[in-house]
Amino acid sequence: MSPEETEPAGAIPLGKWETVAAEVDPDGIAWVTLDRPEKRNAMSPMLNKEMLQVLDVVEADERARVLVLTGAGESFSAGMDLKEYFREVDAAGPVARARSRREANEWQYRRLRYFPKPTIAMVNGWCFGGAFTPLVACDLAIAADEATFGLSEVNWGIPPGSVVSRALAEVVPARDALYYIMTGRTFSGPQAAAMRLVNESVPREVLRDRTADLARQLAGVNRAVLEAAKVGFKRARNMDWEASEEYLYAKLDQSTAADPEHGREHGLSQFLDEKSFRPGLGAYRRG
Ligand code: COA
Repeated sequence: MSPEETEPAGAIPLGKWETVAAEVDPDGIAWVTLDRPEKRNAMSPMLNKEMLQVLDVVEADERARVLVLTGAGESFSAGMDLKEYFREVDAAGPVARARSRREANEWQYRRLRYFPKPTIAMVNGWCFGGAFTPLVACDLAIAADEATFGLSEVNWGIPPGSVVSRALAEVVPARDALYYIMTGRTFSGPQAAAMRLVNESVPREVLRDRTADLARQLAGVNRAVLEAAKVGFKRARNMDWEASEEYLYAKLDQSTAADPEHGREHGLSQFLDEKSFRPGLGAYRRG
């Protein structure tokens, strides 16, 4: 990985891992980089174990307010490691295989999907197969125009495994999902944006700045409220309306009770009493 990729200005390492680099910058952005560029950041059992540790560290570190997930070099990730995750784990037997699958899924969707801090996938290059799961599990995603995506599983003789198809169905219309699942054809950053797999696609040279701008905005939002908002949305979309009404009101009350900033009171008072801001046009004054 080149120095400008590993070290945003003033960034402090969050630990030392073999397959992942993680640092937090002065704006509160935790840059988490899948770091096996020589293997196109393919996700090996070790990387899956290390990502669980990295997520624990980012969750606990008060300096980290937003997590950006990206890849070293020219790849976001070439998906699951075909040698170490498939062939070698198969050879190790059914128990090892079940454990390895569990660890992969644990970070790639369970932990990431409901991560208490906002998450952004920054898709800088190759993105194949299993990489779609953490991509979709992140709250938001920005791709480089030059990135290449593909559901390449059919190309090497399997249907998409794990929850890849489920993850796709979460964000991509069925026609697009089935087209790429069944043909194994590749698509670009702008095509990914058109099918809403990512929020937007930008030229590679502005990808990091664009992502940092978005991350800085999220870092400035009331943390407790943001967590309740994102988790509430993700959980409620699979509920019926009646259950979601109960759940979302409970979530709202929980967030208000748990918010150390008492954001709601500040927001109401600044709008109704001080008349110092308009909630429709921006955020209340904090601190
Ligand atoms: N699993 C294991 N190793 C992988 C890998 C994967 N998913 N993707 C790449 N690698 C390894 C290659 O085996 C090669 O290792 P080597 O140097 O020891 O031979 C190295 O990474 C570089 O790969 P290479 O194919 O030479 O790079 P490239 O830049 O020409 O092509 C890709 C990049 C991503 C297009 C190509 O590597 C590829 O098709 N990878 C598989 C993608 C895939 O189908 N993933 C789905 C998994 S479910």
